[in-house]
Amino acid sequence: MRSVPETLTTDFLIIGSGIAGLRAAIELSSAGRVLLLTKERLNESNTEWAQGGIAVALSDEDEVSLHYADTLRAGDGLCSPEAVKVLVEEGVPYITELIDWGTAFDRDGVQLSFSREAAHSRSRVLHAQGDSTGREIIRVLLKKALASQNVVLKPHCFSLDLIVEDGIVWGASFLDEQEKCVRRVLARSTLLASGGAGQVYSETTNPDLATGDGLAMAHRAGALLADMEFFQFHPTALFLQGAPRFLLTEAIRGEGGYLRNIDCERFMPQYHEMGDLAPRDVVSRAIVAEMKKTSSNFAYLDLTHLDANLIKKRFPKVYSTCLSYNIDITVDMIPTHPAAHYLMGGVKTDLHGRTSLRNLYAAGEVACTGVHGANRLASNSLLEGLVYGARAGQAAASDAHGSLPASLESKTAGLSDNSGGMNRLKETKKSIQRLMWQKVGILRDGRELKEALRHLMHLGSHFKGPSANRPECELINLITVAELMIVSAMAREESRGAHYRADHPCRNDQKLQKHSVISTATHVDFVDLNRPKAARETPAAQ
Ligand code: FUM
Repeated sequence: MRSVPETLTTDFLIIGSGIAGLRAAIELSSAGRVLLLTKERLNESNTEWAQGGIAVALSDEDEVSLHYADTLRAGDGLCSPEAVKVLVEEGVPYITELIDWGTAFDRDGVQLSFSREAAHSRSRVLHAQGDSTGREIIRVLLKKALASQNVVLKPHCFSLDLIVEDGIVWGASFLDEQEKCVRRVLARSTLLASGGAGQVYSETTNPDLATGDGLAMAHRAGALLADMEFFQFHPTALFLQGAPRFLLTEAIRGEGGYLRNIDCERFMPQYHEMGDLAPRDVVSRAIVAEMKKTSSNFAYLDLTHLDANLIKKRFPKVYSTCLSYNIDITVDMIPTHPAAHYLMGGVKTDLHGRTSLRNLYAAGEVACTGVHGANRLASNSLLEGLVYGARAGQAAASDAHGSLPASLESKTAGLSDNSGGMNRLKETKKSIQRLMWQKVGILRDGRELKEALRHLMHLGSHFKGPSANRPECELINLITVAELMIVSAMAREESRGAHYRADHPCRNDQKLQKHSVISTATHVDFVDLNRPKAARETPAAQ
């Protein structure tokens, strides 16, 4: 590996090529030069995998106020009402714009086709090619970004760390995997859109790339993170020995699919009045309870009573994937199990993507705007990436003034390339993923969390960095994210949304209807939702 860093400069640096990063790039393209780094191919991100769709109150029988109310209800008392208002109101024009740019959402004749998902009071989820919504949105956004002369997109560039001087962010160092060298990019603003961290768990619907890199980088740089204890477990992932936990979209239950235990009994009506369409946290815990009751490690998702042609047309990807494992979902029930899906917490931002560090912005899953509260409403995440990606881009453009400092110290020279010990690295990663699933999963308990933290520190003790070896960096990032999650989960001594503490099974609004905020000292504060804005930890003045 070459160690002499080559320094690039740009006005705006974006890290991540999912919906939030691409939408921000388009927004910023009229304000200056934009460089977007992404660690895989340009079209490889969590967004690309999104099946169900994107929620928006656009149908004739829907109203923005209903979308607002459903989002707050699912968030279990912890959504930021102002952030939700922005999401549902601005979602309408941003989706309309996406359609104008050529996004081909599915239609019934000429009318947009809306499907139903859990905890929505109306059918409001747009989808494309049945269950390939994320792929269609990325196609359109990528085309638009690539058409701008001001935007440069660089794939296979793995971001290592933010460049910070006196608490101000001036870009990032990165591993250029094509050039095989460590480089720096200096930028007037840096926008994190690097997605989530599902790889912290052994059971996850997320692709391998979801290793929490942006979260860990922001934490190392001193940014505040919030609500890290809230990780959403999707109730239905394909459960087969040796197969990845492929997502079985909730829209399947929206079309009338049922959950059954291994004795073929429907159970959701006993757990919630919304039955199979109860909020995700409720459904995931119900599946766990049924698995325990039937001494099984899976349940079934049953579509066999639905019309076979409808299934093939509406869920072509699910149909073909299951068929590749010899499961014909038109006649066979699908073995299923919950899996880690989405992090509600993240880098704390205001309503414009500004973080607690000057010149640093965040949008999409890496950010915590407060829209999801303790439990995200299904299909609100693509909408969040779209709306808040654009807003963060607007804020970065309007805040940017002045120029880059004349010289910035380079800290990349001392990086090691510890590519030896790959077996140990892989084993450690697997052990951490299992530990998190077993002790920091759907059901939690104070004693187990404490034990998980101790064990994590032991497992992680060989991997401290700094490193210029991507698998090692990803592992270090996962360890950091896992630690922040555990510490936050220990501090929240109540059950709310996706965070269920068996030793504190009730919600404690009086003490804990607050966001957790974690700083560099891994110290958790709880910030009152109702305190006037000026009294909260406000993002840095620009
Ligand atoms: O079930 C799904 O299709 C997932 C949607 C989402 O996570 O929003």
